[in-house]
This record gives sequence, structure tokens and C-alpha cells, in this order.
Amino acid sequence: MNVEHSVRLAFINHYGREADFIVKAPGRVNLIGEHTDYNDGFVLPCAIEYATFIAVSARDDDKVNVLALDCNNQTDSFFINTELNSHSTQTWSNYVRSVVNELQKSGYTLSGSDICISGNVPQGAGLSSSASLEVGITYAFNHLCNLYIERKEIAKIAQAAENNFVGCNCGIMDQLISACGKQGQALGIDCRSLDLIEVGIDPSMSILMINSNVKRGLLDSEYNLRREQCYAGAEALAKSSLREVSIEEFEAQKHTLKADVAKRVEHIVYENARTLEAMHAFSNNDTTALSKLMMQSHESMRDLFEITTPEIDFLVDIIANVINTHGGVRMTGGGFGGCVVAFVPKVLVKDVIYAIESQYEQQTGLKETIYTSVPSTGVSLISA
Ligand code: GLA
Repeated sequence: MNVEHSVRLAFINHYGREADFIVKAPGRVNLIGEHTDYNDGFVLPCAIEYATFIAVSARDDDKVNVLALDCNNQTDSFFINTELNSHSTQTWSNYVRSVVNELQKSGYTLSGSDICISGNVPQGAGLSSSASLEVGITYAFNHLCNLYIERKEIAKIAQAAENNFVGCNCGIMDQLISACGKQGQALGIDCRSLDLIEVGIDPSMSILMINSNVKRGLLDSEYNLRREQCYAGAEALAKSSLREVSIEEFEAQKHTLKADVAKRVEHIVYENARTLEAMHAFSNNDTTALSKLMMQSHESMRDLFEITTPEIDFLVDIIANVINTHGGVRMTGGGFGGCVVAFVPKVLVKDVIYAIESQYEQQTGLKETIYTSVPSTGVSLISA
């Protein structure tokens, strides 16, 4: 049974009536531009076919009831017009509560609702299942309460919900692509202006996401530490963000920076340049350029930003050996586990899968999970 169908049925079973509407909010994969978003830099993600589905009906009072199918059918209830605290045991509830909180802080008037949530974005894989939930809930209240919030603003509210209530000090990339994704296109995002550049993805190519299934224990603390180190680098170079630092300026001044800060800054400065080049290379399907840019990005995450793991590095090597200059491969997302993204000619997909299946588990003791997707549309309404 597909997720849309099961969320619709579960809503009827639980609330005894049909949902008024269903929202579909996609996860994402980032093709290149890692940890550049919170440095005002460039990223190039696309929304994926895996998504969070949220069935919603209006209520006459100010109560919000939520049912989470993927969390053992746990439920949460709260009132809009009372001060909202974090739920002490159910992390998933806090994504919903935090969005409600942010919307109210921004001055929007909300009303009560019955909500049922389910999704197929793999959790903890670095494919932004949380961002899709935050964006989906924001969009749901936007529709329910006729708030007329535009998509970029929806992304900002969803990001604030993550930053202020849930805990990770993430940038804007995940929420923005979940809100603004375009079918068949990756989006080059300038994270300073939030300008979007559509980058067509050649239909002869496949996007594979291979989950290393490495458990991502330290992600939040290491992520926030990288962010602090980047800010320290910008301050030491007397810039408002690392986006303002050119390669020439960095090379001339790197000896003045502390060793670990210099490594982080080097990653960001060069990753921004690579991401701009990659936008052209993807548009022209120049796989020779992409294989180089994506490998440089991976090596920089491994050696300078220090966010990969040996298992992820091995996975990248396996795939790079098969695709050579016919595509690209690198770790994607925040790091310390999660997924590798591979841009592969359709004719080579079987060979890539075979190589992974015959080597990865044997070497690491972990079994990978492989997903494929075309670039998909951002959050949308599916009529009930
Ligand atoms: C996580 C964050 C994003 C971004 C990436 C790294 O996915 O949520 O904002 O910083 O890591 O590129």
C-alpha cells in the first residue's frame, strides 16, 4: 500500500471522518555544496521522490491532535492558545509543536486540527526526513488557516523550528529545497540572497543514494562545532561570512589561522567555487568535470572538514571505480554516516549496484540500502 493511501485510511480509522486534504513534502539529496549553506554560500540539492505525507482536517476549537503512523501510532495533543513546551519523550512531536510555535511567534493566527503523519523518507540517512516534516506541517497550517505564506518564507519558518526547538543549528538548504524543489531540476541556491537557479538534470542519468547505514551518533554536536569553527574563521579574516572570502584571500592569509580553523575554511572556500562550477557541469551533463568536482568535494570533506567515516570513504571508492569519468560520487548531507550520492549513466546503474553489493558488506560488516530518484517537486497539496 502506498503511503498516501495508508495515511488517508489511518486518518479515517483514527478520527472517524475523511481528511480535508493531504500535504506531500519531499526529502532531499544534495549533489554538491556541503556545509556551505550556513556560511552564506552555494548549494546544489534536489528534492527526491521520497516524502512525508500529512493528512489534515480542520477542527472548530484550538486543539491539535496528531497521530504518527511511523512511530508506533503514538499520538500527541496540545492547544494552540497555550504556551507550548517540548514533549519530554516523543521527539517527533516536537517537530510539530516547534512549527506551531514559530508560526505563532511570526504573528500568524492558527486554528485547531486533526493530523495524521507518515512517510517514506529514510530516517537518519541524511535525506532530510525532519526537514520534510517541518516543511509539510508549515505548509499544512498555511493551507488550513489561509495564511498565504510564500515558499521561501515557509522554509525559513521550518528552519527556525529546527533551530529553536528541536536542537540542530542547521542552515537553510534542506527546508528550502523541500519547499521549492522543481521536477527534473536541481536547484542552485545562493544561501545569502536565497536566489534559486534551476539546473536541468540530464534524463539519461540516474541519481542513486546509497545509505551506508553507519549510525550517526555525534552528528548534532560535531555539526554545531563545525559551524562555530567556520564562524571563528570568518571573524579571524574580518569577514561577515566565509562566503566573502575568495580563494586568493584565503591562500594569502591561511598561515594566520589556527590549524583546525584553516582546514575548515579551506573546505568552505573551495567548495563554494566547486559548486558554482558544478552548476554549469550538470547543465551541460559534463560528466568528466563532475567526476572531478564531486571527488574533490568528497576528499575535502574527508581530509579538511573531517566529516566522513571509513565506511563512507570505501563506498565512494567502490562506486568511483565503476563510473570513472562517466559520472560523479561523494558523501552527501551533514556527515558522520548517512548517504553517498552517485550521479550515474542509466546504463551503468546495474554495474554500480553489483559492485556495491559484492564488496561493501563484506568489507565493513554493514549492509547498504540503495535508493534512486529523479529530481522532484517541492511541497504540494494532494486533494483528499
Ligand atoms: C544538514 C543541514 C544543512 C546543511 C547540511 C550540510 O543537512 O541540515 O543545513 O548544512 O547538513 O551541507
